[in-house]
Amino acid sequence: MSHLIAPSILTASFLDLRKEVEMLNNSDADWIHLDIMDGVFVPNISFGFEIIKQIKSIARRPLDAHLMITDPSRYLDEFKHSGVDKLTVHFETNVHLHRIIQHIKSLGMSAGVAINPHTPVHVLKNILSDLDMVLIMTVNPGFGAQSFIDFSFDKIRDLKELRNKVGSKAMIQVDGGVDMKNIRSLVDAGVDVFVVGNTIFSAENPLQVIHDLKFL
Ligand code: DX5
Ligand code: ZN
Repeated sequence: MSHLIAPSILTASFLDLRKEVEMLNNSDADWIHLDIMDGVFVPNISFGFEIIKQIKSIARRPLDAHLMITDPSRYLDEFKHSGVDKLTVHFETNVHLHRIIQHIKSLGMSAGVAINPHTPVHVLKNILSDLDMVLIMTVNPGFGAQSFIDFSFDKIRDLKELRNKVGSKAMIQVDGGVDMKNIRSLVDAGVDVFVVGNTIFSAENPLQVIHDLKFL
């Protein structure tokens, strides 16, 4: 499988959101990444269910929601009803992660777990075979347009080893600081899905950048 591109709309123009989503509909993007932030787990607040529902009403790509919120178990059903297809929760925000993953899957969404830069891959050992995806944060969560954290390559390697060991089929997603300079080495390192925000939405020609990221 060639790698997938999931543009994050966090750095898109919220004044022209319809236009941005339609651009993504006509692009080589595979998913639309939605960064949901509560101002508690991360020092930023982004957007909620009403925006998700309106994006869903015009999007022609699956919605990949990344929950940077405390106690996400409160809202799993509401994310499903808002149109989310893939739901990723942070390891660092859950006491009962196994139960949450089962609930996400019972709602018909694919289930992912995200780990912050400081969180080692081995914490996922007992849940990895239940996951559809692991999101390795390659920046500290909360903002777009940050620089890629280089030791993330070690974590990608650790995750690939652990995935083989437990026999998981979970996809590896990276999120933050991805650009044309590092994406090829990340593909070679085994990353399956790339969340890209600023590199796309700060570009003169975002359609071309998405194409270039997809067809390296
Ligand atoms: C940061 C978010 C990322 C961000 C994309 O907390 O999870 O998805 O929007 O990052 P850049 O803009 O670096 O591609
Ligand atoms: Zn994200």
